Amino acid sequence: MIYPVIWQNNSVLLIDQTRLPNEYVVVEIHSSEDMAQAIKTMIVRGAPAIGVAAAYGMYLGAREIQTSDRSKFLQQLEKVAELLRATRPTAVNLFWAISRMLKTAHETLGTVAQIKEKLLQTAQAINAEDLQTCQAIGDNGLAVLPKTPEKLTLLTHCNAGALATAGYGTALGVVRSAWREGRLERLFADETRPRLQGAKLTTWECVQEGIPVTLITDNMAAHCMKQGLIHAVVVGADRIAANGDAANKIGTYSLAIIAKAHHVPFFVAAPLSTVDFELSNGSQIPIEERNPVEIYQVGDTMLTPLGVEFYNPAFDVTPAELITAIITENGAFAPGDLIKLQKQFAA
Ligand code: MRU
Repeated sequence: MIYPVIWQNNSVLLIDQTRLPNEYVVVEIHSSEDMAQAIKTMIVRGAPAIGVAAAYGMYLGAREIQTSDRSKFLQQLEKVAELLRATRPTAVNLFWAISRMLKTAHETLGTVAQIKEKLLQTAQAINAEDLQTCQAIGDNGLAVLPKTPEKLTLLTHCNAGALATAGYGTALGVVRSAWREGRLERLFADETRPRLQGAKLTTWECVQEGIPVTLITDNMAAHCMKQGLIHAVVVGADRIAANGDAANKIGTYSLAIIAKAHHVPFFVAAPLSTVDFELSNGSQIPIEERNPVEIYQVGDTMLTPLGVEFYNPAFDVTPAELITAIITENGAFAPGDLIKLQKQFAA
């Protein structure tokens, strides 16, 4: 099993995802500053994994605070939260995990030392819960996958795998469960320009576990569907609005349009912590824009002449009407039914 974020010997170990698949390097994170940097530079990435990492980042920040005065401690913890919130804007799991850690700090009675201890326990709980959640998402996906043929070829975009979560994955969780149950013929993975999470990370995970995988470039998906090669698409999400509109890696929206045109079911697999019930629709989801170097340079090679302008949005929003079902740890729902879960999730 692949675990991208581990608490060990008083520090956080992260698999450096910027170096896969060529090198498997584990980095040790000892401070909230280093954790913020690791999230920003995508050493750790993927919405649920960012949430878990941020939770540990909050504990590391709490540990650095020197005062034993409760209200001063809480004030300084808010600064740690600000630092971590400023790393990546789209994945709501980051904000969800930070809020949960702050709530824990405020609600824990006792000394500052006791609050710190409780914060570590909460970060570990967020980590463990995410793993269980992903396993449930994977198994819930089995119920909604097409019944025929018996062995399916699925297509995914980006990496919504073990690397993007506490382990097991959301979209790749469905793929893993289908593989375990003998329902998967093969996974097609979009390479996912510009950062190539599909080519570098999704294929790496599949190879680790012997799941048959075929890599295609993003612009091959329509051709593959037209040829009948794809039975269903399964992707993850970074933030889902209350109406079911879902933000995910750039290119997901066009994939959903292509799937609709070819009558291929399109599933979004995500934990309920990815649903932002405060946003009524996807137009309110903040979209991260990243450094254009990601699109104009490959390795040391410049792809364009001087004088070109660039636009590099890292995510797009797939409208709810293009989504067949949203697969969560509580089961699979039509996007429009998600709102019914609001009370239950808030409780
Ligand atoms: O920019 P990234 O690599 O963090 O983007 C990741 C994705 O878009 C994933 O599909 C999403 O976070 C879901 S991860 C289970």
